[in-house]
Amino acid sequence: MSRTVYVNDSFLPEENATVSIFDRGFLFADGVYEVTAVLDSKLVDFAGHVTRLERSLNELKMELPISSEELLNVHRELIKRNNLEEGAIYLQITRGAADRDFAFPKDTKQTIVLFTQAKPLSAPKSGIRIISAPDIRWGRRDIKTVQLLAPSLTKMIAKAEGKDDAWMVEDGFVTEGTSCNAYIVTKEGKIITRDLSTSILHGITRAAILKLAAEMDMEIEERAFTIKEAQQAAEAFVTAATAFVNPVIEIDGVELSGGAPGPVVTRLSQLYIEESRKAAM
Ligand code: PDD
Repeated sequence: MSRTVYVNDSFLPEENATVSIFDRGFLFADGVYEVTAVLDSKLVDFAGHVTRLERSLNELKMELPISSEELLNVHRELIKRNNLEEGAIYLQITRGAADRDFAFPKDTKQTIVLFTQAKPLSAPKSGIRIISAPDIRWGRRDIKTVQLLAPSLTKMIAKAEGKDDAWMVEDGFVTEGTSCNAYIVTKEGKIITRDLSTSILHGITRAAILKLAAEMDMEIEERAFTIKEAQQAAEAFVTAATAFVNPVIEIDGVELSGGAPGPVVTRLSQLYIEESRKAAM
């Protein structure tokens, strides 16, 4: 069935939606994106995603071409027109179309595209098996740009080995998953995840999970960890808007928590879904 998508002020059937071949998103990956989860046909953490979007745009000397109220309306309209109950809304904003030039063009009309993708997010998860791989991305991973070839290639290395995903490693330490933040849980129940910097994306789900964990009086340590430390952990997991909390049950061939989701991850996952259902708008 054809989806209704949003392109530059219009709602259109997906087959009629077009973007110029001169769009700088296509030519230079000169654009940013956001992914907001949809649960019970409502948006999860919309304000957090808009704040990060504005920051990403600002870092690339761009502006939000639409007010945040209008953006919320477009998201809601897409949910309605596509009868989306659970899944995600993808949003991309580029610098727009211009003659090809490495220098930023002046006064281009930015391109804005939004589309929906249905996906079960709240169903119980059996856990993923991951491998480690070198982090070959650029140095500003805190900006959510559309240049996703490096993580895509890295994901394909995992797939070629029959695994689900990869944790990327730089200077001996895990940065994050190809499209998710990475965590381990120590035998004492402490949650460890990489501290915020330009090395990783500042996950909106990450912020929510750390807040939840703190409210549950769980100990949290934001620091880098190695694959070896992760393999010796009691549990491991990843978070993302399109995965919520997903248990990691194998790292480079070493099984964790008996090859099944452990108690801490299971509890965090349930709580996150409960809280998201309550706060979704
Ligand atoms: N990816 N790290 C990376 C590299 C990511 O691409 C993502 C999200 C995250 C988690 O961020 P958040 O919790 O805000 O979704 C961390 C999205 C879902 C994607 O590219 O599809």
